[in-house]
Amino acid sequence: MFPLQTSKPETYSMRIRKAVFPVAGLGTRFLPATKAIPKEMLPVVDRPVIQHVVDEARAAGIEHFIFVTGRNKGTIEDHFDIAFELDHTLASRNRHADLALLADDLPGAGQTSFTRQQAPLGLGHAVWCARELVGDEPFAVLLPDMLHHGIEPCLKGMIEQHAKTRANSVSVYAVPMEQTPSYGIIDAVPLADGSQQIRNMVEKPAAGTAPSNLAISGRYVLSPKIFDILGRQQKGAGGEIQLTDAMLTLLETEKFLAHIFDGEVFDTGTKIGFLTANVAYALARPEFGSLARSEIEKLLARRQNT
Ligand code: UTP
Repeated sequence: MFPLQTSKPETYSMRIRKAVFPVAGLGTRFLPATKAIPKEMLPVVDRPVIQHVVDEARAAGIEHFIFVTGRNKGTIEDHFDIAFELDHTLASRNRHADLALLADDLPGAGQTSFTRQQAPLGLGHAVWCARELVGDEPFAVLLPDMLHHGIEPCLKGMIEQHAKTRANSVSVYAVPMEQTPSYGIIDAVPLADGSQQIRNMVEKPAAGTAPSNLAISGRYVLSPKIFDILGRQQKGAGGEIQLTDAMLTLLETEKFLAHIFDGEVFDTGTKIGFLTANVAYALARPEFGSLARSEIEKLLARRQNT
């Protein structure tokens, strides 16, 4: 069980306690797997993708987990609830290790909230749907299909940066320059303290025009002012209400810092990103990483010999 931390109301104002997980997207890049199963529930090794991302938020000290869901996403809510019959059966069979595993992954009572986006109008609209649950305090957003694999959880570093600076924050990672047309890219200037202040964000820049090779990786720490902006936001690229457009408006009045994540980032919303994430997470597992490696090496050797 997560420890039930309860902050004193007077400390609420600036500390990041709440995280929003927009899980209302249709996952069309992963059909047919996502026809009946939310892409967030597909397993990376033995845990649903969404569990990996909730674990990252938990490791960063998040106390309240807000899921913006849509139709056909009910299994996500079930995953973060007690499965009474399963627990009962495991207990009757003395499967205590499995019971402990399930209990460890479960948020405490009252630590989750679920709201529905009703229509997939874009990431910005999904975040706006969480406004009543977040209230008037800075908060985190984690895109659940983006897995960040590294020694330090990505969001933890961002929250530490926010504690020092009170600035908005966007996570980025270095991609090969020739791949920048596939990403949201930031334009940032170095500050005296070594941090990078963002002055622009460009969605999928044309080849040769990217201001840097730093791609937005799907973790944000945002001021609640973003909700007012999102509430007025017109549709942007793809006919959707875009979070990046609202952040660019907020950038006119508030500071944004880049948090450079130096681990690996996997887009599990794509088939190849999902497969690569499975390999990377399997190799990193202490109990069977070396076995996974030897199986992969055997597969590769067989294909080289044919
Ligand atoms: P994506 O564009 O990666 O997700 O959105 P998608 O729409 O599910 O994917 P495809 O393109 O159809 O395969 C980034 C994040 O924003 C959420 C998605 O669930 C994903 O976590 N999202 C997107 C929403 O919650 N609502 C939306 O209307 C759009």
